[in-house]
Amino acid sequence: MKNIIESKHPLIKHLVNEIRSTSIPSALFRKNIALIAQYLLFELLHEEKMKQKTIPTWIGERDFSFIDQKRLVFIPILRAGLPMLEGVLEVLPEVPSGFLAMKRDETSFKPTIFYKRFPSLEQKDVIVLDPMVATGGSLSDAIDVIKQENPSSIQSLNIIGAPEGLELIATKHPDILVHIAQIDNHLNDKKFIIPGLGDAGDRAFNT
Ligand code: PRP
Repeated sequence: MKNIIESKHPLIKHLVNEIRSTSIPSALFRKNIALIAQYLLFELLHEEKMKQKTIPTWIGERDFSFIDQKRLVFIPILRAGLPMLEGVLEVLPEVPSGFLAMKRDETSFKPTIFYKRFPSLEQKDVIVLDPMVATGGSLSDAIDVIKQENPSSIQSLNIIGAPEGLELIATKHPDILVHIAQIDNHLNDKKFIIPGLGDAGDRAFNT
């Protein structure tokens, strides 16, 4: 799975393992998800081309390089992707966002898209945000829909994945880079990641 990049950083592992505990409140769950998303973004951007901009400084106008925020688009998958969006927008607040609402059926495990609102993705570098890759169906369908809008590139930031779902992404979308905090053990018969986090959407929003 050459296109799946698992973080090895102890701080990321620490933040992931903290939210496995069911005794932490939703606020802390969302906070850690947002922080992990920031660190994954940091890793994703390590070779990002920068853009020169002239700014006023105390010694007059000078050129410095910055990340070209308008080249990027964040697309969180609702609802569990929302705390990740909050985290990445704290670092890069000028990046436009699109939204994709998906729900996985509890018996067929197939995802349905029921809301899609994107800015233009032409020539953009899209970053998809979703905490969980279980069967991989949601992320794979999201990528299919995003590819129809002709972006320059698509990458994905995810917190926890199962090998089964990541295999699916690696096979169906070998051109997409997936940056993930943790690859867990397997899926159970309800297609939940083991050990995983449980239902990330429920845990983030107290339902
Ligand atoms: C969860 C999760 C992913 C999806 C992963 O969302 O946030 O989007 O399931 O499962 P898959 O890889 O098998 O498709 P869910 O549909 O539970 O919606 P939610 O975000 O509203 O909780």
